Amino acid sequence: MDLGNICGLVRKTQASIVENRFLGKRIDDDGVRITMESALTARDRVGVQDFVLLENHTSEAAFIENLRKRFKENLIYTYIGSVLVSVNPYKDLEIYTKNHMERYRGINFYEVSPHIYAVSDNSYRSMRTERRDQCILISGESGAGKTEASKKILQYYAVTCPASDQVETVKDRLLQSNPVLEAFGNAKTLRNDNSSRFGKYMDIQFDFKGAPVGGHILNYLLEKSRVVHQNHGERNFHIFYQLIEGGEEDLLRRLGLERNPQQYQYLVKGNCPKVSSINDRSDWKVVRKALSVIGFSEDEVEELLNIIASVLHLGNIQYGGEDSGNAYITTDTQIKYLARLLGVDGLVLKEALTHKKIIAKGEELKSPLNLEQASSARDALSKAVYGRTFTWLVNKINVSLAYKDETYKNASVIGLLDIYGFEVFQHNSFEQFCINYCNEKLQQLFIELTLKSEQDEYEAEGITWEPVQYFNNKIICDLVEEKFKGIISILDEECLRPGDASDITFLEKLENTVGGHAHLTTHKLTDGKTRKVMGREEFRLLHYAGEVNYNVNGVLASSRPPCSSTSLARCSLFLLSLCLCLQAATQFKTSLAKLMEILMSKEPSYVRCIKPNDAKQAGRFDEVLIRHQVKYLGLMENLRVRRAGFAYRRHYETFLQRYKSLCPETWPSWQGKLADGVSTLVKHLGYKPEEYKLGRSKIFIRFPKTLFATEDALETRKHSLGERESHVSHAVVVQAWWKGILACRRARRRREAANTIRRFIKGFIYRHNERCPENEYFLDYVRYSFLMKLRRNLPKTVLDKSWPTPPTALIEASERLRKLYMQNMVWGYCKRINPEWKHQLEQKMVASEIFKNKKDNYPQSVPKLFVGTRLNGEEINPKVLQSLGSEKMKYAVPVTKYDRKGYKARPRQLLLTSNSAVIVEEAKLKQRIDYAALKGISVSSLSDGVFVLHVPTEDKKQKGDVVLQSDHIIETLTKVAICADKVNSININQGSITFTMGQGREGIIDFTSGSELLVAKAKNGHLSVTAPRLNSR
Ligand SMILES: Nc1ncnc2c1ncn2[C@@H]1O[C@H](COP(=O)(O)OP(=O)(O)OP(=O)(O)O)[C@@H](O)[C@H]1O
Ligand SMILES: [Mg+2]
Repeated sequence: MDLGNICGLVRKTQASIVENRFLGKRIDDDGVRITMESALTARDRVGVQDFVLLENHTSEAAFIENLRKRFKENLIYTYIGSVLVSVNPYKDLEIYTKNHMERYRGINFYEVSPHIYAVSDNSYRSMRTERRDQCILISGESGAGKTEASKKILQYYAVTCPASDQVETVKDRLLQSNPVLEAFGNAKTLRNDNSSRFGKYMDIQFDFKGAPVGGHILNYLLEKSRVVHQNHGERNFHIFYQLIEGGEEDLLRRLGLERNPQQYQYLVKGNCPKVSSINDRSDWKVVRKALSVIGFSEDEVEELLNIIASVLHLGNIQYGGEDSGNAYITTDTQIKYLARLLGVDGLVLKEALTHKKIIAKGEELKSPLNLEQASSARDALSKAVYGRTFTWLVNKINVSLAYKDETYKNASVIGLLDIYGFEVFQHNSFEQFCINYCNEKLQQLFIELTLKSEQDEYEAEGITWEPVQYFNNKIICDLVEEKFKGIISILDEECLRPGDASDITFLEKLENTVGGHAHLTTHKLTDGKTRKVMGREEFRLLHYAGEVNYNVNGVLASSRPPCSSTSLARCSLFLLSLCLCLQAATQFKTSLAKLMEILMSKEPSYVRCIKPNDAKQAGRFDEVLIRHQVKYLGLMENLRVRRAGFAYRRHYETFLQRYKSLCPETWPSWQGKLADGVSTLVKHLGYKPEEYKLGRSKIFIRFPKTLFATEDALETRKHSLGERESHVSHAVVVQAWWKGILACRRARRRREAANTIRRFIKGFIYRHNERCPENEYFLDYVRYSFLMKLRRNLPKTVLDKSWPTPPTALIEASERLRKLYMQNMVWGYCKRINPEWKHQLEQKMVASEIFKNKKDNYPQSVPKLFVGTRLNGEEINPKVLQSLGSEKMKYAVPVTKYDRKGYKARPRQLLLTSNSAVIVEEAKLKQRIDYAALKGISVSSLSDGVFVLHVPTEDKKQKGDVVLQSDHIIETLTKVAICADKVNSININQGSITFTMGQGREGIIDFTSGSELLVAKAKNGHLSVTAPRLNSR
């Protein structure tokens, strides 16, 4: 077990556990994080996890030795930089559990030991964070584990990506597409019991949340020849055996099939109907279920099975030969079944299987086929039917996987390419030619993109790029695909040209056109030594991965097509088959070009699969076979490119964190800039300038030995720290616990805050509803906050009318509160006032009643307090006081009296007693007006102080009304009104006042506004009073 084994090798020091916790990293189940660097100290036994760390990186032997060490320890994955090399373990390793998936989720690629999940996760995160489409290219030879790897990737996404009901359906369909495609496209071969006989590129589409929402599959080059022929020890496609073994009795009866594969010609060629590693019956159930998950209706499944059965029936059609040599069909039952299953006329089918159409000089003629031709025609039909059914199946799966929702139009994509690796056999046919051409293209793409990404990283880090020498295989790709001059074009031309074209003419043409090419040779062109190992009908291509001889005859033998046109009939059978292959090759070239376009538009990751032995055995490491694959996968070239500059690179933070204990300045922590910390550290470690470079965010180390020395120093340091570290570690434990508690508290507070916000928003939405659970919190909060605001902003005085605006729900409550508060404030105010002040206010109230909004100088009088009297005892003549006797004097004020004749102004005193108003001139009581006799008081509406006390005319004691002027008019008249109880007898006049002068004569006082106060007799005999305007009305 990969991680389990390393666990045993890694020192589980308390300090490292604590350090990891302290760093907040995720810890494995057993408490230890398996980091890339952790395993470095065990490199002698388990090898290095990244080939770039091989000291002798150009040595193939060192490369293979590293693979062997790891394979022995069940460590099947190793990196070359970002490329994952995977060796098929041929046994179940406990490294694909859900726990393992979790362990690789969201982790930096280089932090953990190599795994297919690390590659999957890295692609996924790049797609999410950089919004760039990704692709994972999986290659390797048959049985190396490509399909298993692609399934593991798919499972990883199915388990770790976000889910919803809709997404679950898509995930199911994506996963279930595998058993269906494998049933129809995989077969048991000598190399692999479940060999994919087609190339597959699958797009997984993700929405903006990172959930898989759809998919699309492209298929390449299905090996149709397998339908009619299998080599010894091999089988036809799985579906035939699954149907026969697992199909229900009724179904088989309807399809006219027997439960015995030996009955079918197309299933007996390999003499291998049963395979111990395969359970056809249970696989049948899986496929049937998968078909319904994907969305095949019962009718569609029935049609599909009709066609599969009809291929078996076609295979059982047998021919007899007439004397003339013409073929006729001897198995009429098969025709009967075929007619029913395919829905065609039996006779027409029969004729089609025994005759060919020839178009000669525009006329269509039918000509009988001989035995050999008729068998070929039957097989060609079977292959075509199966091939088209497979294409239909893929299209149907695509419809089921297609994302339906418009909003997913901008989905991000991860593509998985599971395609045959480089193949080289004793006899290599055109099939190998196409496969190897495909690998040339993939290698070209790989080298270009790897170099580019290396260059990009150097540029981003500000490190000078040193050009790398590498084998550019564009020259071979051009040799195959170039227009007019490429091998495919030459084939094209040769096939279509009139005259007798044959294998020899094709080879000759090849020799004439591209004979001088450095990467092509033929038997004729080559030197004696090579000629010995080359057949006459072979041409040799010098691929990037090695030399391969292609035998054109091999193609003929495996797929001989029926002849169907006169022009083609003239050609040899060999070239005819080539022509068909050519079509396939041209088609393949076109679809490959499209594939390259798709891949170029994405960011690639690579998985290179290696098969450890041909016996499919666990634990066997066949060095010859592996060396062969290392060569054909171009792994040494990959390594060379990746190691061109620096073997190791890490972010400053990671590097410093790991090695800080090796330098007193950086231990236990570095406070300055990370780059300075790393610089200090490596200087202390004695790194030579040529050994490393410091980029913008990473350190680059050129040689693995530098890193190993540092790693070993760390190991020694851990021991020497010993005791001290354990004390430190205790402190760190306490620290870590405390930090943990704080973090928990913070998290809880954050959670509560989020809940409050959520409840608040909901409450806001429902705020106009009746009180309900949704708005309860919000309404309570609004109430609370209004009351708090009110508390802060209550009016301070009874005159302050301000009041915070209440929320709608609290309008009524607010109004009631306001009244209550005001009453309370008034009550409190009243309680606080003394008798004098009360008296003062009562007088002010009377003044207000009389003058408010009526007399111009009233507002100015409001803030001025009324006094008890304006003249004290000394200012009033004692004689006057004496004559008043016991009468109590309530108020005295100096006034100006205007004579009735001539309106002369005379200074007087106005005394208010309990019974009368008295006008005094020094010691003389000039006039006494009993309150009972006071008829009324007149005053103007202007700002003057003139007023008239009206007395009855018939009162002989009085000499008429009195015209007076007071400087405190409001106060004086209020006092008069109170003393005389004449509040309602004060008349405020607008223009003039008429008064009686005695003996029935009347006087008039005219009031006008002016700039200043002026009281004088006017020409018309009236008393004219001009008063300044104080308040604009
Ligand atoms: N990671 C693995 N763990 C365990 N067994 C594996 C693993 N990978 C591959 N195998 C075994 O190897 C067999 C062949 O693998 P797979 O079918 O993936 O090969 P392939 O490269 O797709 O070959 P082909 O090109 O023929 O399709 C599998 O059926 C399985 O038994
Ligand atoms: Mg496969």
